Parts: sequence; structure tokens; C-alpha cells
Amino acid sequence: MIELHRVSTVYGSVPMLREVTLSVSEGEFVCALGPNGAGKSTMFRAVTALVRIVSGTLTIMGREVQNLKTENIAALGVGLVPEGRRLFPQLTVRENLKIGYDAVGGTGGLDKRLADMADLFPWMRDRLSQAAGTLSGGEQAMVALARALIGTPRLIIMDEPSLGLSPRLIDEYFKITSEINRRGTTVLLIEQNAEMCLRIAHRGYFLVKGRIVAAGSAADLMQSDEARRLYL
Ligand SMILES: Nc1ncnc2c1ncn2[C@@H]1O[C@H](COP(=O)(O)OP(=O)(O)OP(=O)(O)O)[C@@H](O)[C@H]1O
Ligand SMILES: [Mg+2]
Repeated sequence: MIELHRVSTVYGSVPMLREVTLSVSEGEFVCALGPNGAGKSTMFRAVTALVRIVSGTLTIMGREVQNLKTENIAALGVGLVPEGRRLFPQLTVRENLKIGYDAVGGTGGLDKRLADMADLFPWMRDRLSQAAGTLSGGEQAMVALARALIGTPRLIIMDEPSLGLSPRLIDEYFKITSEINRRGTTVLLIEQNAEMCLRIAHRGYFLVKGRIVAAGSAADLMQSDEARRLYL
């Protein structure tokens, strides 16, 4: 579904990502983990064409797409949950969701998909006309996830969706993410919360200072000395 092969990026003349190689196959739940400043959001921006890839290749759905436009990446069938959610606060929940539906080139009808989202997040059913900015932080996180899902993407990529949520909400959020994966959507979850992610992901990568320093099955990574030293 997505493959980065020796992808490098720079900020000005300063290297950030350094030959990052990572892949996610259909059906997988993969996490990319790293501390503050590791380059997680840079990786998200690189795969969504918000930061230029200076060398290496990015392949999504079998097509080489490094430096394609962001909207074209979404249109390949990729749902995006950016850092900080980036909802439109003045727009209603429905309007925010419609943006996600259109971005992926959603099919099957918006109303049907809105109903599907309300099945996944029952509280949303009566709140579709509410301005997104007036929702609680947890609700906004769910709307951002629904916005990524509503176009029926084959792959979703999320950048630190748990940021700012209470432990109980993080738990609920990741349960839903797991369920979405079980129903067939491939997931690339970029996160700082290693312990939580490795409990639900199949595989993971550790990113430190722009480099992948460890990769493997979630079970192996949880046991690795490196992982323990770095995060757990
Ligand atoms: N626009 C920018 N210009 C210059 N440097 C930047 C820019 N954006 C990020 N950086 C630097 O690049 C490094 C990686 O930043 P990035 O946002 O990718 O980290 P992160 O892993 O997402 O961190 P966090 O956990 O805080 O979200 C940091 O040192 C950051 O200061
Ligand atoms: Mg970040």
C-alpha cells in the first residue's frame, strides 16, 4: 500500500529524514514510533507532499508518487489524520466530513457514509450540525478520524492522534482504530505512545533523529533493549 525507500528530506540545508525505508502491506497495522523531534511529522508531511522528498522513492498503491500534490495522494485512496487534527472549527461536523469524503473521491453516497460514521461514533448522529470548534477535544479527534475514513480509503495515515487525549480516550480511540483495521483498512499510525501502539499494531519502526533505528514485529520490538531504553 505504501513504501518509502531511502527517503530523505531537508529543512533549508539541514537534513531531517535520512534514508528512511518503511513499508506497509495491505491489511497491516503498522506504527512508526519516535520521541519529540524524531521526524514523525516530517515523515507524515513527506508522504503527503507537504515536505519535498529530496532523494529516495515513495510508492503508494503501486505508483511512484514522490512530490505529487497532497490532494492527488488523498485521491489515491488515502485517508489522512494530520497532527493537531486540523478541523475547520467554524464548519459543522457534516461539512468537515464532506471535505474528507470529497478528498478521497468517496463513492456510495455521502448520506450513507455519514450514517456509517454515526454507527462507528454513535454520539455523532445528533451532532452533525454542530460547529466542529465547539466539540470537546476527544470528539474533535473522532471527527478527524471519521473525516479520514468517510471516503472509504484503503489506507489511513495518522500523525499522533492521541495527543491531548485522556488515557481513557486514548484507549477508546485505539480500540476503534484496531477495529477499523480488522474491518479491512490498512493503517500507518505515527505516534509517540510506543507501549500503547505496540499492543495493537502488527509491526513497528522506531525513528530517532530522522533515522529508522529498529524495525520488527510488535512483539519483538516490545522485547528489544533498544525499545525499552528509548521509550518504555
Ligand atoms: N518547518 C521547519 N523548519 C525547520 N525545522 C523544522 C521544521 N519543522 C520541523 N523542524 C525540525 O525538524 C525536527 C523534526 O520535527 P518533526 O515535527 O518531524 O518531529 P516529530 O517527531 O513530529 O515531533 P513531535 O513528537 O514533537 O510532533 C525537529 O527538530 C524540528 O524542530
Ligand atoms: Mg509531530
